[in-house]
Amino acid sequence: MARLWPVPLPNAAQPAPISLRHSLPQPTPTNIWLSPPHLAGGEMAALQATLESGWVAPAGPVPAAFETAIAEATGFPHVVAVASGTAALHLAYRCLDLQPGDEVWTTTLTFVASIAPAVQMGARPRFLDVSPESWTLDPNLLAEALAKAGRAGKLPRAVVPVDLYGQCAELDTIRAICDRWGVAVLSDSAGGMGALHHGRHAGRGAQLAAFSFNGNKIITAGGGGALASEDAGLIARARHLATQAKEPGPHYQHETTGFSYGLSSVLAAVGLAQLPALESRVQARRALFEGYRRGLAGLPGLRFMPEPAWARSSRWLTALLVNPAEFGADRETIRHALAQAGIESRPVWKPLHLQPVFRGAGLLGGKGRSSVAADLFEHGLCLPSGSALSASDQARIIGIIRHCHPG
Ligand SMILES: Cc1ncc(COP(=O)(O)O)c(C=O)c1O
Repeated sequence: MARLWPVPLPNAAQPAPISLRHSLPQPTPTNIWLSPPHLAGGEMAALQATLESGWVAPAGPVPAAFETAIAEATGFPHVVAVASGTAALHLAYRCLDLQPGDEVWTTTLTFVASIAPAVQMGARPRFLDVSPESWTLDPNLLAEALAKAGRAGKLPRAVVPVDLYGQCAELDTIRAICDRWGVAVLSDSAGGMGALHHGRHAGRGAQLAAFSFNGNKIITAGGGGALASEDAGLIARARHLATQAKEPGPHYQHETTGFSYGLSSVLAAVGLAQLPALESRVQARRALFEGYRRGLAGLPGLRFMPEPAWARSSRWLTALLVNPAEFGADRETIRHALAQAGIESRPVWKPLHLQPVFRGAGLLGGKGRSSVAADLFEHGLCLPSGSALSASDQARIIGIIRHCHPG
């Protein structure tokens, strides 16, 4: 039988799919990706051991061990591993008993998955702007808007702060504000693995926190997610719902409907092999960020994503702002120049209140204030940030950006 592994890789940072290769679209000329998977080395052995054990289903010792490892890495006592970050968020909304017509408030500067499951459940999404200090949910706007909603008797079912590009939301302050009104906090920490706020891991302090282990994350299972909490009951309910809400008994008995959201043992094995590398991946990404900062020093009109004193960002993605008047070229000029050289970069997230699907939703609070998130979208660019990016590739990226400056 033909050997499936090892196969030649297009480059170390972009492992090729194995047997499906022939059915995939033609490879693009891109040779440096934004955040490709970075294999830790132990994945093959973990996969082999898992396959040999026969435990390949979304149950058994491997997902359980992955949950324990996530609990250790994050400090959450209760964790359920699931098929994706989006699945974790969907389960969280079910655990919070979200009902059609309920409001869910989140930051506008996020990926659509933060709110999509809530919308699919019939909730009304409302969006808040971000703070220029952290680019995450602005607690002052939240306090103002919740007070107004509380007085009107129209409080949301949940507030969903989001960790942005490895930068934690200001969760302790947000939780204190929400506690005042009895509103639950669900942290979308999909991009938060390894990030800290006030010395605690991303998501800690929220009633529920969702993590993602998809292919572009700092730690990947090749696809997967987790829901974590201090509350054993919430995670027990999430686990029940994630496995078709089966009641105990010899036959299938259901008092509600659930999902098939369990994480395959095969993927859990990959995640388990990856997790011990978390801190070294954070250090590598932080070093890349500093490399960009040093390499682009002296150019006018470039400003990097800030890191507040209370946070330790994982720098999952290095993001910077381009002021075209000062730099002499705009963000898109840089993005196109990089793309022409086969280098992927990406604008900062388009705010959800500007997305066609949420047309008319607008921003809560901050009357008369221009949107910080809209400004970040207009000028912000995420640069290749994979933890295996070589010094020579980073130097090439820096050289291209420098070349865009007409001075
Ligand atoms: C902020 C945010 N929320 C949710 C998700 C969804 O995670 P997943 O892709 O694992 O479903 C992502 C994934 O990229 C994300 O960045």
